[in-house]
Amino acid sequence: MPDRLKNKVAVVVGAGSIGPGWGNGKATAVAFAREGARVLCVDVNIDAAQETAGIIAGEGGQARAFRADVTKAADIAAMVEAATAAYGRIDVLDNNVGIAQLGGVVEISEADWDRVFAVNLKGAFLAMKHVIPLMAAQGGGSIINISSIAAIRYTGLPYATYYASKAALSHLTRTTAVEYAGKRVRVNAILPGLMQTPASPAPTAPPTSTPCGRRAPARCPWASAARPGTSPGPPSISPATRAATSPASSWWSTAAPR
Ligand SMILES: NC(=O)c1ccc[n+]([C@@H]2O[C@H](COP(=O)([O-])OP(=O)(O)OC[C@H]3O[C@@H](n4cnc5c(N)ncnc54)[C@H](O)[C@@H]3O)[C@@H](O)[C@H]2O)c1
Repeated sequence: MPDRLKNKVAVVVGAGSIGPGWGNGKATAVAFAREGARVLCVDVNIDAAQETAGIIAGEGGQARAFRADVTKAADIAAMVEAATAAYGRIDVLDNNVGIAQLGGVVEISEADWDRVFAVNLKGAFLAMKHVIPLMAAQGGGSIINISSIAAIRYTGLPYATYYASKAALSHLTRTTAVEYAGKRVRVNAILPGLMQTPASPAPTAPPTSTPCGRRAPARCPWASAARPGTSPGPPSISPATRAATSPASSWWSTAAPR
């Protein structure tokens, strides 16, 4: 359905990708623009943000790039300023930034624990903290937090701080959705399985255990990734993100498609 986001303004945080190819935020920013949104492409890597904005402009859409580190409150405040200065409002906030650090609770350093939580959880908190008052004053808006299947199960590799931070992000999404539903600010999370992005582990990477057992590939990201062509890429979750932001989903809040 084209033009579902016509006249809407979307801020995609983590709109770049950490390497050549399609990260999820990059795919989502382009998908939003194809639906008619004007997009602020935000990333700590300004070159990556500019590349995404350039793709959108090349397709005839409207986008700007903005550099922000999600762990810095001043950067997030400046991001909101930039969006409202350029486009006057924010209808959609996509909190896509996420990082992972290998290690179980014994191996992971305290510094890495804090860093992953700061990026994966505090980043979304800061963005919502600065954007929700604006959305409430406008009469509503839609926030999407990109969580992970890792929020609800072990995926085969020891990522203690990733599992815990994504679980916390999912629950922060639920409680924030309830709190601001009366202001027509919808807050949803998406829990993707393994996507082939520049940030994902090699599809053939051997898990340190066999969590999937005999489970069907659809229930086991590693099994599906090992079969060429079956692992979903980022554009395959951008429809879920678009759906959660469109007028057709105006009753959705605190859902968690995955
Ligand atoms: N790739 C997967 O298999 C997978 C699976 C489930 C969930 N996810 C989640 O999807 C999201 C996107 O994943 P991806 O694989 O596309 O990642 P990606 O690394 O390609 O994209 C994330 C972007 O965030 C940016 N970023 C990193 N730290 C930042 C910071 N402090 N401030 C601002 N920007 C920052 C990076 O520069 C990058 O452009 C993440 O939240 C990830 O946890 C990914």
